[in-house]
Amino acid sequence: MSSPRVIISNKAVERVRAGHLWTYRSDILECDAAAGSIVSLLDKKGRFYGKAFYSSTSLIALRLLSRADEPIDRNFWLTRIEQAFQLRQRVVKDTEVYRLVHGEGDGMPSIIVDRYGGVLCLQTLSQGADQIKPLLKELLLDLLAPQSVVERNDSKVRELEGLPQQVSLLHGADPGEIVCYENDLRFYYQPVSGQKTGAFLDQRENRVCVRNLARGRALDCFCYAGSFAIQMAHSCDDVEALDISETALLAGRRNAQLNHLENIHFEKENVFDRLKLYVHLKKRFDTIVLDPPAFAKNRAHIESALRGYREINLRAMSLLNAGGVLVTCSCSQLIDETTFLNLLTQAAADAKRKVQVIQKRTQSQDHPFLLAMPETYYLKCLLLRILE
Ligand SMILES: C[S@@+](CC[C@H](N)C(=O)[O-])C[C@H]1O[C@@H](n2cnc3c(N)ncnc32)[C@H](O)[C@@H]1O
Repeated sequence: MSSPRVIISNKAVERVRAGHLWTYRSDILECDAAAGSIVSLLDKKGRFYGKAFYSSTSLIALRLLSRADEPIDRNFWLTRIEQAFQLRQRVVKDTEVYRLVHGEGDGMPSIIVDRYGGVLCLQTLSQGADQIKPLLKELLLDLLAPQSVVERNDSKVRELEGLPQQVSLLHGADPGEIVCYENDLRFYYQPVSGQKTGAFLDQRENRVCVRNLARGRALDCFCYAGSFAIQMAHSCDDVEALDISETALLAGRRNAQLNHLENIHFEKENVFDRLKLYVHLKKRFDTIVLDPPAFAKNRAHIESALRGYREINLRAMSLLNAGGVLVTCSCSQLIDETTFLNLLTQAAADAKRKVQVIQKRTQSQDHPFLLAMPETYYLKCLLLRILE
């Protein structure tokens, strides 16, 4: 059966040809496709450009699946999942928790699969992806034989698609809380109830780097369940870890116990307030990690987000001893790398510190991004050293 046809503008054709996967609603000229269906993209002259998921509600109306005129069937999805898995087999080391499918970055738009040992967490974030949920589950069972498959469809993005918020068990028993290795250390995970699908997997490789660089007195700001703090506790004298969420801190304390660490102090605190206080008290640290939530969730928030990033970075730079290391991150996709570097430059000038860049890093390799889609490159992680 042939797929419904959608006629797109010349501008959209150019984007598709350049490798971008999204077509906005304003670039659709004709369409009578059903919500969530797989459609063929054509230009005004009827030339074919690919097959895509169609959304009836989102501004992102089309998400390209293939530029070939091929069936988008079981075999298509099996091949995509296998390709994603092959990459992980090459790049993921010493770890049982990683992202197995990273949506657009893996050519599987709006589909996320995170692996926590024997538990898989699936997110289907568009109408099209939601319709193939049973097939995705079946393929994951065939390929990886997980104990449990959890649907973590409680992401706000689904609201743009008119899809309900839901968390359910698609296969096996409720995993509850499990222990898995990340970078050879053990952590508790709650695939059903933790933030995101239970952890911030995109920082996994950065945490190893930070462990190798961190020294002396460390401060982990926005620590969540202590993933950076626990790494740093192995190379630092002591670590202070701050987060505003009591649940995250409870998990952090238990993770520290699990790894027999006694040199981390977890505290519930607003990082903005605490950094201000410490500057006032003239406290000093040798290593500081800043891994805040995305301050700029949409364009309207960019200015206030920039102010927020500037403030915490200026204060952190002021608090570091000469020779100290600042690990500073931004996961706001709307704030690009150049903008982030510029605001750090300004923060360093305001703090009157001379700052060296040791390394520019990004999301872990199990979160690949597409050259042609800047939207898939979101995490900036700078390792800085205070020279004087
Ligand atoms: C990106 S996550 C941190 C992830 C963590 N570094 C890791 O690697 O697992 C951001 C964290 O910031 C916390 N948070 C948000 N606003 C905060 C604030 N003003 N002060 C302290 N923590 C905050 C959230 O509870 C969340 O745990």
